[in-house]
Amino acid sequence: MEISGNTVFITGGATGIGYAMAEAFLEARNEVIICGRREERLLESQKKHPEFHIKVCNVAEEPDRRKLVEWITANFPQLNILVNNAGVQRDIDFTKGVAEFLAGESEIKFNLEAPIVLSGMFIPHLAGKKEAAIINVSSGLGFVPAARMPVYSATKAGLHAFSMALRQQLLKLGIKVFEVVPPAVDTELNPEGRAKRGNYKANLSPAEFVGSIMKSFKNDVFEIGYGMSEGLIKASRADLDKSFQQMNSRW
Ligand SMILES: NC(=O)c1ccc[n+]([C@@H]2O[C@H](COP(=O)([O-])OP(=O)(O)OC[C@H]3O[C@@H](n4cnc5c(N)ncnc54)[C@H](OP(=O)(O)O)[C@@H]3O)[C@@H](O)[C@H]2O)c1
Repeated sequence: MEISGNTVFITGGATGIGYAMAEAFLEARNEVIICGRREERLLESQKKHPEFHIKVCNVAEEPDRRKLVEWITANFPQLNILVNNAGVQRDIDFTKGVAEFLAGESEIKFNLEAPIVLSGMFIPHLAGKKEAAIINVSSGLGFVPAARMPVYSATKAGLHAFSMALRQQLLKLGIKVFEVVPPAVDTELNPEGRAKRGNYKANLSPAEFVGSIMKSFKNDVFEIGYGMSEGLIKASRADLDKSFQQMNSRW
């Protein structure tokens, strides 16, 4: 994929991996639009990079999604890359029943339904565009689930399956489908869970991670990992089982 001269829309682009991708695409001379729920974080990003176009939007809500697609197609008809990056992560303990699952934000809506519906809504617009692409941000936990985050892991496994199937379907429309598979990265994701684990640090910044993946877009590598997640993408079933046991032995 050509990584300059595009118009790129990134969900959840005001913080973490999405923000690092927004900066990297801007630096590579692309027009960049970002969205998120918190206006103050979008304005902060725009203060650092006045070239960013920003939109307050909750991609998990149908009316917001419809308004977003209308706004983008009216104001940025040249849009050719959609990045489904927005996501949330929660520790959920099912030994207590369903209460914890029902009490918080729905990872299924945020991490799985939103990228599926947004992809579907943007596909007619992307079809026929030069260098059209959809980039889905999944997770290494979609390949090896974490016992303490069962629903998160399931949404990311689902997004992996969706990305594979969509890649095949969209060949005939000339839209490339990439899957970015981050390992643990130091961001604002799941602050409660990280605090429970002694303010866990991965020692990998979003900028370092994103710096490594930009060349993979350029080289049309469709499943892009880094470090541990690179290993998981290529692992055998036996390797995945071993990683699962190692990762979850203390649950
Ligand atoms: N950090 C890691 O270790 C790691 C590892 C693997 C995969 N990932 C994935 O990487 C992606 C980015 O996460 P991150 O680590 O960079 O965490 P982050 O800093 O918390 O970024 C998530 C972004 O998504 C936005 N967002 C969440 N729900 C949204 C919604 N319904 N509508 C619009 N925007 C929404 C958030 O902004 P608002 O709250 O303002 O909406 C935030 O800017 C996620 O899909 C995550 O699952 C992260």
